[in-house]
Amino acid sequence: MATVIAAQQRRSDYERLAAPELAVIVPTYNERANLAELARRISAALDGVAFEVVIVDDDSPDGTAELARELARHDPRFRCLQRVGRRGLASACVEGMLATCAPYLAVIDADLQHDELLLPRMLERLQSGHADLVVASRYLDGSVVPGWSEDRRLLSRLGTALVQRLPRLRGLSDPLSGFFAISRPALEGTVRRLSAIGFKLLLDILLSAPVPLRVVELPYRFRSRRFGSSKLDARVAVEFLLLLADKALGGVVPARFLLFAAVGATGVLVHLAFLVTSLEVLGTSFVTAQTLATVAAMVFNFALDNELTWADRRLRGLAWLRGLASFVLVCGLGAIANVGVAAALYARDTAWPLAAAGGILVGAVWNYVVSGFYTWGERSGR
Ligand code: GDD
Ligand code: MN
Repeated sequence: MATVIAAQQRRSDYERLAAPELAVIVPTYNERANLAELARRISAALDGVAFEVVIVDDDSPDGTAELARELARHDPRFRCLQRVGRRGLASACVEGMLATCAPYLAVIDADLQHDELLLPRMLERLQSGHADLVVASRYLDGSVVPGWSEDRRLLSRLGTALVQRLPRLRGLSDPLSGFFAISRPALEGTVRRLSAIGFKLLLDILLSAPVPLRVVELPYRFRSRRFGSSKLDARVAVEFLLLLADKALGGVVPARFLLFAAVGATGVLVHLAFLVTSLEVLGTSFVTAQTLATVAAMVFNFALDNELTWADRRLRGLAWLRGLASFVLVCGLGAIANVGVAAALYARDTAWPLAAAGGILVGAVWNYVVSGFYTWGERSGR
């Protein structure tokens, strides 16, 4: 008996030291209350498997990363990858996958909604060599999704029905699942083509793979969230559409630029509204009205771009004010470039609408690239 126990002990020591066969990637944002229970459940579910857990935390204010490191101090199979100044479920998962040497990679939410007991079966399917990707589906016979509000259920169904029309995804019951496992070669072939925008990494992978992946779906019981709240909000819906646009455009024009341009177009409406109000209601001079309208449109555009276009690098507090200042500066220069190009085109006998459009395009590209760099990107050094 004692030797059996000793052998088991050795085996489990070995498993703890062995290179992982499966890496479980856990994206977290404010999941402190769920983490210890999740760790316990994953360890139990994967008893006998050489596994590793990479918790990818986007600097959650509730201290999730600190707790993740605490877990890692007790069990080296757990690791924390902390990202500062960035947000994004899909990009977090990708970075976690790239931070491990395991040949098989699973992604699971931290909030205990996904059934971790499926992990060994997902691994087996991949190891069999017959599948590149195993998806835990909420919508197969035998799957159950309890505790969802009507709105949430409808939204999920709608999104799923929409993408199921894409040829690549026909026959898949749940291409928007957040719970799946993939082999390293399949990831390797796809990772450089990913948009990594928003929540829907699985969809991104399915649409980006150079050749269609061999997919197996397994049913499971989707559970209610234990603690904390869902991070799904309007931004997630926008990012979902952005991801689809990015895939449709084949990466030629970044979808983010289109969103930036759309936000810019709404800025024109704000400008006109302020201009008219100032002239007609307040009775100011034209120059005052135009100045007021310009400032209002810039602040409006900055605020909206910060919430939507650059939501993954959203600025808050003092950084928001600093960002606004740099945005105004960048767009001021953009306006000069716009007028300069339009004037030059017009002087070369270009019809005025074309000359204007040329100026607007150059100004928009300048604003997008330079504000992306200074206002939301390089400014923070990341
Ligand atoms: N690192 C990081 N960064 N993690 C994030 C972020 C982020 O910006 N936003 C959310 N997460 C983490 C959460 O902490 C959680 O562990 C997981 O990602 C899912 O977030 P939820 O807010 O719980 O999303 P949900 O339950 O509404 O939707 C999830 O499940 C659906 C069904 O499987 C997502 O995975 C959906 O994509 C999926 O369709
Ligand atoms: Mn959830």
